Amino acid sequence: MTNLKKSELEKLYKEYEKKSDETFKETMPHEFVWGYGDASSKVVLIGEAPGRDEVKQGRPFVGKAGQMLTAFLTDAGIPRDELFITNTIKFRLSKPGAKEGTLKNRPATKKEIIFSCGFLKREIEIIKPRIVVTTGNVPLKAALICSGLSETEIGTMHGKPVNKGFGVDDTILYPIYHPASLIYNRGLEEVYKYDLFELSKMSEKFF
Ligand code: URA
Repeated sequence: MTNLKKSELEKLYKEYEKKSDETFKETMPHEFVWGYGDASSKVVLIGEAPGRDEVKQGRPFVGKAGQMLTAFLTDAGIPRDELFITNTIKFRLSKPGAKEGTLKNRPATKKEIIFSCGFLKREIEIIKPRIVVTTGNVPLKAALICSGLSETEIGTMHGKPVNKGFGVDDTILYPIYHPASLIYNRGLEEVYKYDLFELSKMSEKFF
């Protein structure tokens, strides 16, 4: 990570922390996890939000879904450590669990997605990747909102590159399914492998 990019990202994350604490007082305290990886990478991958394991380790995509993602990336010939990986919403989306003192995950709200989209765009402008891979509906919605495009579901957009992703010049948006969706629907595995294989071919020119 170049020092300049590192300090710009740190500044951005500080601002994100302050603004989200001000905007979403009802879900305080927030457990933040910032983007991680090679900030000079030509490929940025965006998830939904960190879960319990990510908060514990302070890195995105290290739990069960993250392990699946790593395995599929490796199979497609894409080394995970050559990517920059971040999340749309950078704090855990949690609500009280059934047992007192426990937390469980909850879906992102539209307000949280709209709030995060401007920050994501700035994160991309700092890193300057050529390809931005969104995993599942939440980062895809953020990308479409940022680009001024109408919202579409991942089922119709996966594996289809879109020019000017996040409204940033020279940036291709490449939507894929979220790895967690494969846990519930094994039938998506072949589609997922195919989409990652295509990503690998597309990104070869940039590594
Ligand atoms: N872990 C993450 O960091 N992001 C996700 O979207 C899912 C798991």
